[in-house]
Amino acid sequence: MGENGHPHFQTNSHILVNEFDYYEPTSVEEAIALLQQHGEHARLIAGGTHLLVLMKMERELPQVLISLNKIPGLDAITVNADGGLTIGSRVNIRTLGEHPLVRARYAGLAQACDAFGSIQIEIMGTVGGNVCNGSPAADLVPPLLVFGAEVLLKGAFGERRVPLEKFLIKPGVTAIQPDEVMLGVILPPLPEGTVSAFHKMVRVVADLAKTSLALMLVRDGERVADVHLAYGAVAPTVIRIPEAEAALIGKTFTPERVAQAAKIASEHITPIDDVRSSAWYRRRVVNVMTQDALNALWEEAGRVHAQPLAVSPNGAKSAVAGTVIPQIRRGEQREIEFVVNGVKQRVRVSANDLLLNVLREKLQLTGTKYGCGIGECGVCTVQLDGKAVFSCLTLAVEAAGREVVTIEGMAKPDGSLHPLQDAFIEKGAFQCGYCTPGMLMTLKSLVEENPQPSEEDIRSYLKGNRCRCTGYYSIVRAVLAATGQTVPER
Ligand SMILES: Cc1cc2nc3c(=O)[nH]c(=O)nc-3n(C[C@H](O)[C@H](O)[C@H](O)COP(=O)(O)OP(=O)(O)OC[C@H]3O[C@@H](n4cnc5c(N)ncnc54)[C@H](O)[C@@H]3O)c2cc1C
Ligand code: FES
Ligand code: FES
Repeated sequence: MGENGHPHFQTNSHILVNEFDYYEPTSVEEAIALLQQHGEHARLIAGGTHLLVLMKMERELPQVLISLNKIPGLDAITVNADGGLTIGSRVNIRTLGEHPLVRARYAGLAQACDAFGSIQIEIMGTVGGNVCNGSPAADLVPPLLVFGAEVLLKGAFGERRVPLEKFLIKPGVTAIQPDEVMLGVILPPLPEGTVSAFHKMVRVVADLAKTSLALMLVRDGERVADVHLAYGAVAPTVIRIPEAEAALIGKTFTPERVAQAAKIASEHITPIDDVRSSAWYRRRVVNVMTQDALNALWEEAGRVHAQPLAVSPNGAKSAVAGTVIPQIRRGEQREIEFVVNGVKQRVRVSANDLLLNVLREKLQLTGTKYGCGIGECGVCTVQLDGKAVFSCLTLAVEAAGREVVTIEGMAKPDGSLHPLQDAFIEKGAFQCGYCTPGMLMTLKSLVEENPQPSEEDIRSYLKGNRCRCTGYYSIVRAVLAATGQTVPER
């Protein structure tokens, strides 16, 4: 019941209408037991960047939400005895993309992480969510497929490993059983000299793929010893095309064979017309993309030999462990404690309260804005434990025991502005009151992570913060000035 007595009192920014019981199991076994108990009414949630959007659109209305975020161990990347990797399901996209072993050995996977829509989604979104949402456009899936990944699942009857190829059934549907939790993905070791890459065609930089391609290649002199090709957003699931691979494997690499493989690939896909592209365009792009990508990777294979393991294994960062929160039932509220702008706060929240609502409506911190509500504009960006996140896609209960910084906390306690704020004013980067708070919060995270960002770093970090009025030129100048770098003349 809302504060005005209506069952679904909605303010402008309170758009997660359905109510649910919220659980925070602390072990996989507890999560499995909850799945068994609640059956089809329950959903697991990790980063929430996919599920909460569906819930806001009322395409998913679970009665029970089971958070995986308090289960230890799911956020690790470990080296297996055979030299391969096990990537925990709750490893986020950014951690995966920055992992030294992933960058050195599985470059195509790291490139797929870099190609994600926004920094905030990279920080919030997880490997498990990307693989289990069953999207044909999921960016991690093509590289995982070319590397021969297996999905590690655990259910009431124990653990099982499913080859990723068999895991993908159709859009939104995978082979996971209702009582199973994905523990992680297992990557096999790769043959000496393997190279890989990921390519993504998009309408704008922060978008899902029109078409994507991951490829892995082993070169033996002028001969292709092995090649794997996997395509996203051109069929009901991400697919490999063995017929196209067969046109090259064991043969001399020639332009004719490359053209033949690309032609076969474009004939074997089954693309559709949708908001992002047309089937006609996708077929042509697959042909061109395949040839360009194969030629570039062939060149690289000629230069690169397997990287020695000069990096320390198990270098993954761990997620911050939060306070254990009791579950919240539908229609009930619980008190959570968290630190906001350096001040300890206690607020009562419902399971479906979003961090954005709590900040704006319960703490009157209205500097954080509401725009799209589904992770596409960036105006709601705040820092959660020092990382930029979308507060419109963060359940308030997930902030318990953690530290939030909003635009109101950016200035120093004595009231003097943060160097970024000063530079925004000086360089005319304060373009509108709506976007500026979110941009500043994102940029604060950037300069804390990288004190001397290049123009490219700045533009890339801001890809999830949309400006529709002016552009990013003055903003880039302001960040360069704030970080003591040379600002180009206008
Ligand atoms: C603005 C925006 C931009 C995006 N850009 C991209 C992009 O560029 N590329 C891309 O690929 N995706 C993109 N996405 C989609 C999404 O962010 C990613 O797929 C992300 O990896 C999902 O992870 P999550 O942890 O947030 O998933 P969640 O929303 O938490 O979960 C997604 C689904 O997976 C299930 N699930 C999660 N973890 C497990 C587990 N361990 N075991 C079993 N089931 C599990 C959940 O029950 C749910 O059904 C974007 C989304 C938004 C809103
Ligand atoms: S309101 Fe959160 S990203 Fe647009
Ligand atoms: S800064 Fe808000 S639309 Fe450009």
